[in-house]
Amino acid sequence: MRVLGSFLLLAAVPVTLAVKSHDFKTCSQAGFCRRGRALSARAAQHESWRSPYTVDADSLTISTDQASFIAGVKSSLYPNIKFGLEVRVHEDGVVRVKMDEVDGLRKRYDEAASWALIADPKISNNIKWKVGKKDARAVYGAKKDVEVVVSFEPLKVTTFRNGKEQVVLNGRGLLHLEHFRTKEPAVAEIPESEVPEEGLDVEDAQKVLKAAKPTAWFEGEEEDAYWEETFSSWTDSKPKGPESLSLDITFPNHGHVYGIPQHASSLDLRTTTGESPYYTEPYRLYNADTFEYLADSTMSLYGSIPVMHAHSTDSTVAIFNAVGSETWIDIAHPSASSTETHWISESGILDVFIMPGPTPKDIFAQYSGLTGTQALPADWALGYHQCRWNYVSSDDVRSVQQKFDEADMPVDVFWLDIEYAEEHKYFIWDKKTFPDPVEMTNDVAAASRKMVVIIDPHFKRTSSYPVYQEAVDRGLLVRQKDGTSEYEGWCWSGSSAWVDFFNPAAWDWWKTLFKTYSLGDDKFSWTQSTDDVYIWNDMNEPSIFNGPEISMPRDNVHHGGWEHRDLHNINGMLFSNLTSQAITVRSDPPKRPFVLTRSFYAGSQRFGAMWTGDNLGTWEHMAVGIKMVLANSIGGFAFTGSDVGGFFGNPDPEMLVRWYHVGAFSPFFRAHAHIDTKRREPYLLAEPHKTMVKNILRRRYSMLPIWYTAFREASTTGLPVARPHYVAFPKDEAGFSLDDQYFIGSSGLLVKPVTEKGATKASVYLPPNEIFYDYDSYSLYRTAAQGKSVEVAAELSQLPLFIQGGSILSTRERPRRSASVMRRDPFTLQVALDKSSSARGELYLDDGVTFNHEQGQIVWREFRSEKSGKGIKLSSRDLTTQNLNSAVDSVALTTYDAANAYAQSLASVRVERVVVLGLGAKPTKITTSTGKELQWEYVPGISSSEKKEGTASLLVIKDPAVSIASDWEIVVQA
Ligand code: GLC
Repeated sequence: MRVLGSFLLLAAVPVTLAVKSHDFKTCSQAGFCRRGRALSARAAQHESWRSPYTVDADSLTISTDQASFIAGVKSSLYPNIKFGLEVRVHEDGVVRVKMDEVDGLRKRYDEAASWALIADPKISNNIKWKVGKKDARAVYGAKKDVEVVVSFEPLKVTTFRNGKEQVVLNGRGLLHLEHFRTKEPAVAEIPESEVPEEGLDVEDAQKVLKAAKPTAWFEGEEEDAYWEETFSSWTDSKPKGPESLSLDITFPNHGHVYGIPQHASSLDLRTTTGESPYYTEPYRLYNADTFEYLADSTMSLYGSIPVMHAHSTDSTVAIFNAVGSETWIDIAHPSASSTETHWISESGILDVFIMPGPTPKDIFAQYSGLTGTQALPADWALGYHQCRWNYVSSDDVRSVQQKFDEADMPVDVFWLDIEYAEEHKYFIWDKKTFPDPVEMTNDVAAASRKMVVIIDPHFKRTSSYPVYQEAVDRGLLVRQKDGTSEYEGWCWSGSSAWVDFFNPAAWDWWKTLFKTYSLGDDKFSWTQSTDDVYIWNDMNEPSIFNGPEISMPRDNVHHGGWEHRDLHNINGMLFSNLTSQAITVRSDPPKRPFVLTRSFYAGSQRFGAMWTGDNLGTWEHMAVGIKMVLANSIGGFAFTGSDVGGFFGNPDPEMLVRWYHVGAFSPFFRAHAHIDTKRREPYLLAEPHKTMVKNILRRRYSMLPIWYTAFREASTTGLPVARPHYVAFPKDEAGFSLDDQYFIGSSGLLVKPVTEKGATKASVYLPPNEIFYDYDSYSLYRTAAQGKSVEVAAELSQLPLFIQGGSILSTRERPRRSASVMRRDPFTLQVALDKSSSARGELYLDDGVTFNHEQGQIVWREFRSEKSGKGIKLSSRDLTTQNLNSAVDSVALTTYDAANAYAQSLASVRVERVVVLGLGAKPTKITTSTGKELQWEYVPGISSSEKKEGTASLLVIKDPAVSIASDWEIVVQA
């Protein structure tokens, strides 16, 4: 963010930095939010409050396929204004509720969903609406246990499961679409003829008129900030006048709500209104470069995903409110088992998707059915990323790489921040410091590593900068409120302009810029880069140093004549979308892209990774970063992480070690630092911290197969990689508010990073009826009908990490310099037996870089351990063949052949060790299915089936040499 401010502050007292709250609006400083909250306050004051919106039953038409209906809606406030309601039920039970003004003075922005959705959702063909006098209702679902009811007077939409209310829209009567209107004349302009009573002066007349305003009970007396609004030194011209959208969404039987990232706050969302609110401000969604953000706040951050889960032991439901404008969300808990929310948006149509669940897993499938899944990253992207603002020259990059190698620390990617670019003209290398960018990249690539280079969306306004000039020539820049002149703002490059990615004409052009070969005709392309250069898209909220709330004026104009206010929260996504497409198609055949984005919206998960922006080097920020990663995961964005070390400040070695633990167990693992911080690459640490971090890095690398398998699952099912407790154990109420420990995919790994200074112990909550093994000490913990918290050692070198009994983990234990060189390394299988001495695990592998996996070039194995006498039988089988009929996992695998070329290429990649935890008896003989007798060692200890805790028994089978890619059995006789 702003360079001067940050330079000065950092040099002085880094840890006391605090957000400049006055740069950002509170609800009471945003006219429409004020109006929305006032509406809710009026409703609370009037016991007889009733929504003015009613469905015109006579106009209701059911589509011929029965799956949707449209109806007119009237508001008693404005009898002449028409609204249209459309309700559709999708194949998977999602209900879409849409409402818009019909034949209004202007058109409301109705394109948010089109940017978020992957396709037009398929409509159910198994629905029959029953239209009565008071409502229209449809029962559906495989068990016919779901019902949607649209009540007519007033308009209300309710979904039920087994007769129990799940989601209610407009149950509290706060629905309001401010219709487009013409500006009322100012007081002094009231014509004499309209003065209602003789003898009144104009001002009194106005008062009388207002008092007589028939809509006052609902809209209030004042036309508050309808036509113009000033914040700080900026005036928003609001040419369309008021057009806000208010909607209450109630979950009468769900006491916990999660999601609506991004906020630095707890995962379990808190009360913002009512008797004793935890927060007094609503959660705000308005993508913003919130400089030095607070570690516990509802303030907006860089991205917005208007998705909320509501959860109880009975069911999980969710909503996706497809709105692209600024949105504030108030939350109240009228009781411990119910939640009321109120969504207030600046503009746009009402377009809400209700996801029926009933499990978290179903919700992720339903949501990813709408907006897509996390893109499967390249395997190397799951390694460690080393960034700083800035590595100052190509020799600096080479030297950093050399020092990693000397310290024997693995790393996959070196990053370059804005200083690589001459005058911050992205794509253009500063020749003084980076005279040989292609050679530098090749030197990095020679060690099987990659580079990531920053490309920001602000383009320096100088005709000598080809990217800017081409955008001007093609008419691609965002325009000012007059709709014609180029918008100019201030960012890293000084006076800058912004390409309008809402303009389809920008798309192909943007892709050409990344070609690494010359396009001729004086067209710019990035010949000074290679296919080993990947991209970081920052500042795409957009961040504009001299703009309102450090962003773009809301009355700026985009393609199609839409105002910036209408699509602000979507803006950043389009930038990373197009960049990721550009990186994909720059090579032939295409390779998986890597694009890191700071700003995001629903659907951004399809385009790469995100990080939580400019965090501070404090323990609070380290802790909240974990919660933010979990909240982003709920929003469907699985590839997420926070800057390791904290962006601002100089973390001491203790903090840095803890932060590496946090990072190594985040889906996206990158260290980054502000330009004014001291260098803090891990090889610079003194002992014992240096070895601690080396071990953490190695642990991440040993677990890459687990991460990759989890990402593969995320990319096919929508399930998150960092999985909160309520998602993994939806019935375990004691874990519904947990957000400092979580699971890695479906692997059974449970991690609780330590985020307190000076800690030597940590308390970890374990869910009911399970056993867990400490990953390092093999201590076995057991829970009964209730979950329990256990205290475990957490010295600086220790990370509380557990394997759930019943899991089989695949790791690669040979220390290597990067992920790319591990592709043929042998595996270790860790078998953690459950109470009945069984276990299972999955491993997914592919070439890690191309899209050949979409043609079935994969290895997807299931490992099992089953009881066999007093011993066990371990086996491996092909999982793709087993799953070919399942809708999700057979995607694009119609041509799958278990003996595909990729699988064959892994024939000689073997399992070099099998570790079994909790076996009840000492083996007598261990053989493979081919009769080969294996070597082993056994250390007696607690068995998984005993009702005891203590150190688990340990069996190590040495080099069974079975292939990772083929079927086998190992029989452990005991
Ligand atoms: C922004 C980014 C930060 C980056 C800096 C310079 O503050 O959030 O990561 O280092 O800009 O590009």
